Amino acid sequence: MMTHDDFLKIEKQFYAYTGPFVDRAEDPYPFVLKQEHTARVCRAMEMLCASLDLDGPETVRACAAAMVHDMGRFPQFAVFHTYADACSKNHAALGCREIVRSNMLSHLSVTDRQLILRAVALHNRPRLSQKLGRDLSLLARLLRDADKIDIFNVIKNHYLNPDSSHGFITYNLHDDGKIPETAARVLLETRQNDSSCVTTLNNMRIFQAGMIYDLNFPAAAAAILDLEVIPVLFGGISPSDLITRLAQALLDHLKALAASGS
Ligand SMILES: [Fe+2]
Repeated sequence: MMTHDDFLKIEKQFYAYTGPFVDRAEDPYPFVLKQEHTARVCRAMEMLCASLDLDGPETVRACAAAMVHDMGRFPQFAVFHTYADACSKNHAALGCREIVRSNMLSHLSVTDRQLILRAVALHNRPRLSQKLGRDLSLLARLLRDADKIDIFNVIKNHYLNPDSSHGFITYNLHDDGKIPETAARVLLETRQNDSSCVTTLNNMRIFQAGMIYDLNFPAAAAAILDLEVIPVLFGGISPSDLITRLAQALLDHLKALAASGS
């Protein structure tokens, strides 16, 4: 069973692997942002595990998955200068490759290693299969929620303090000023995200909002509710009845999920 020391070894190797990307970069910010995102996802993961009363080894395994989940982001940005998987490579698959290559999970049992690799591989899928085993299902859903808690934090800060050199956060998509009617209507009706719509900044705002429908755990919903991110996400879109209805539906969903845990 995994111990806190196992986690500390993985944390050390994460910084050993990612540090050179920061040091070599002309602009280190995109890499530093991912290092900081990773540290915050680990904290969100601890919080989620505590909310579910998971035991020590399960919590350590989940935090280890959080620590390595975005390893692929570093070679992805170094090679392609983007975090858009569609324009480069699947960063989850890249990450699994780097995790295996760097041997950073080699001190774990085969079971823990496979669960973590599978959860990393699943962390950016549009949705999860219903047929995963109990341990993988739990780990994959935890990782997706912990990740989203900090994704909402990062994009909220970005939309509130836009910086022209940080456009990579929103894939350098341009703002055409149009209301993303189709994406908003589809999300309102299906409650499912469709990444093929993400061609403009406002469409991306709808896609990011749609991640709310993918959340699994009440504590994640409560954390995202506390961020008050929905008005920030939609603040950049000119007001319309459709957008107002979507914002309300998302808020209602978050509140219902958050309340289901108490
Ligand atoms: Fe992430």
